Amino acid sequence: MQRKIVGIISVWVLIVSNIARADEGMWLPHLLKEMNEARMKSLGMKITAADIYSINRGSLKDAVVSFGGFCTGEVISSQGLVLTNHHCGNSAIQSHSSLQNNYLKNGFWAQNTAAELPNKSLYVTFIVKIEDVTKNIMQGVSNQLSEKERQSIIDKNIAALKSSYKKGSTEDLLIKSFFEGNSYLLFVTETFKDVRLVGAPPSSIGNFGQDTDNWMWPRHTGDFSLFRIYADKNNQPAAYSPNNVPYRPKKALTISLNGIKEGDFTMVMGFPGKTTQYLPGVAVEQIRTVNDPAKIAIRSKILTVLDGFMRKDEGIKIQYAAKYASISNAWKKWQGEVLGLTVSNAFAKKTNFENVFQSRVNSSSSFGQYKNILSDFKAAYAEYEPYALARDYYTEITSRMELFTIISRLIEVGNSYFNGGENAFKQKAAEALPYLQGLLKDFNPQVDKAVFKTLIEHYASQPQKFISPYLTELYKKSGNDWEKLTETIYGKGELYDAASLEKMLQMDGKNFSDVLTKNIAVQLRDDMLESYQKKVQNPIQPLQDKINNLQRTYTQAQPEVMKEKKFYPDANSTLRVAYGQVSSYKPRNGIVYNYSTTLDGVVEKYKPNDYEFDVPEKLLKLYADKDYGRYGINGTMPVCFIASNHTTGGNSGSPALNAYGQLIGLNFDRVWEGTMSDINYDASICRNIMVDIRYVLFIIDKFAGAGHLVKEMNIVQTNGGRK
Ligand code: ARG
Ligand code: GLU
Repeated sequence: MQRKIVGIISVWVLIVSNIARADEGMWLPHLLKEMNEARMKSLGMKITAADIYSINRGSLKDAVVSFGGFCTGEVISSQGLVLTNHHCGNSAIQSHSSLQNNYLKNGFWAQNTAAELPNKSLYVTFIVKIEDVTKNIMQGVSNQLSEKERQSIIDKNIAALKSSYKKGSTEDLLIKSFFEGNSYLLFVTETFKDVRLVGAPPSSIGNFGQDTDNWMWPRHTGDFSLFRIYADKNNQPAAYSPNNVPYRPKKALTISLNGIKEGDFTMVMGFPGKTTQYLPGVAVEQIRTVNDPAKIAIRSKILTVLDGFMRKDEGIKIQYAAKYASISNAWKKWQGEVLGLTVSNAFAKKTNFENVFQSRVNSSSSFGQYKNILSDFKAAYAEYEPYALARDYYTEITSRMELFTIISRLIEVGNSYFNGGENAFKQKAAEALPYLQGLLKDFNPQVDKAVFKTLIEHYASQPQKFISPYLTELYKKSGNDWEKLTETIYGKGELYDAASLEKMLQMDGKNFSDVLTKNIAVQLRDDMLESYQKKVQNPIQPLQDKINNLQRTYTQAQPEVMKEKKFYPDANSTLRVAYGQVSSYKPRNGIVYNYSTTLDGVVEKYKPNDYEFDVPEKLLKLYADKDYGRYGINGTMPVCFIASNHTTGGNSGSPALNAYGQLIGLNFDRVWEGTMSDINYDASICRNIMVDIRYVLFIIDKFAGAGHLVKEMNIVQTNGGRK
């Protein structure tokens, strides 16, 4: 009897602790009703699951788009106006910028639709509907198949379903794997390819704080930009045409000026890219102690080299700023991840979970197939570790040597001669030239050499078996001097001097290939690639297959064995809904972080003429005059806020919605202590960062004087502020 009670209590504890942590998750919109609606309502939501996702009438999902496949955006006017982050619009803004019209530096505001700027390869995708097609896709799949056989059957089933499925003429189909290949969903989508830039604040607002503040709270960035979707005269998707007109959407979000307070319900909809929530503890520990530290160390070396040059030379700073930002973004995130996994005891938590899992499996004969899964994982990851590390070394290192990037492209051109003859070669050579010229615009040989020297030395610090034999030979020939070796590799600039590259690409295919294959840098890059393929890729493949197979079985087992827990599939760039509450947090003992920031903080951080913390004069003036219009509250201007919504990369630009489904903010980041949420969400420290919609509107209206855009929007404000 005594035992039984203990048993009941422990299940209860699990359920209760599960409820307390239930804000974790990136949920599927079409399953909200059965999975989440009750919980969302208990947190304060005032709308229904059908208001969020419905295929019969306009719902919130009809206002949320995948922005270019890498970010999220939302429709905020009946004229197809789309809101996303400044860092998501960054390359579009940059592409229209020049020294005369520096929109990155000064901002850009189209005064009318004729002034809105088209963007060649930018698109937005709407989700029309979602269907479970697991049965169709799994036909003929069994556990006896090898990974390769399995995948080939699945690919065939996908192709068959795609060709037989009835869709509209402007629609596309996307079939995606969920829960590590245990289930499949079909998405009917609609993509618009004429998306124009409408407005962007200056970087000193849109990227205020830059890398220093990135992944950090408290935050004061107005990280937004505006675009507009254009359609043909029938409101259908169409390639860019000057005759296209602003798109009239099925649904545009209503914007609320009512603001937020601690504990308010919030919801974020968007396209999160990748998470790994269901890994075994051994895998998490490997990331924390092996892979992340190795990648951080490599990037630290690169960033130190780049920083040294960028500080001394304004031209180099411009050339390398975007590269620096992108290298430093993941570098900084991984550090937060290691810290978060460490302080939250992720490994111990996983181990506890696994102990319960194992004991349940052991005590029931129906779970026989899961008996060895955890021990198999342990063995597989132990074997995998040195290869996974070597893979990180190779990819992190070779992808940052731009000389190798140039060589890869040239080899592609050379191969076209061997595979397709002179004509194919001519075409590839012609395509490669503008690409290489573009690359060289932001290339400085001194910088690349310094990066190369640092990284090649680091590469050579690996176990001998992973190192290219040709490199070892060259190193000896250079008298064991990396500097000398680097000079030899870079030669006289044949491969990175624009004029000599152009000359080379004008040769005939045979001569081109001869010159290329005789080049010592090409030979080194070839040998490094070949050693990598032979000594890392080949042995890692069967291990990777084994781990994938185990992970698929484990992902299937967890909901069967741990029935009291609710499961959501890992992020895979498909539409998801996360929900939580506006919430302060305690990053460390003795510190509490408040849930919102104001313009006071911008001014506190202000450093005149600083690269990261300068503030436009006009903004300082508005601050001094407290001229906030209807966007301020009690004499202050809200800027950013945080909540416990579970988000990741790809959720940039996602709408933050209140209990009524109205737009209150724009997601753009996470807090330092919580970046581990991709692997181990912890409700006590994981927070997403949003810019307050009132700050966005204040900047558009009062700072930029683009009130005509605000007039397009549907804005609500109840008397006295909050509802
Ligand atoms: N950390 C945010 C995200 O992953 C923002 C990145 C852009 N901002 C920056 N300062 N690099 O992607
Ligand atoms: N800044 C990220 C992005 O570009 C979103 C923040 C995150 O990773 O949570 O998608």
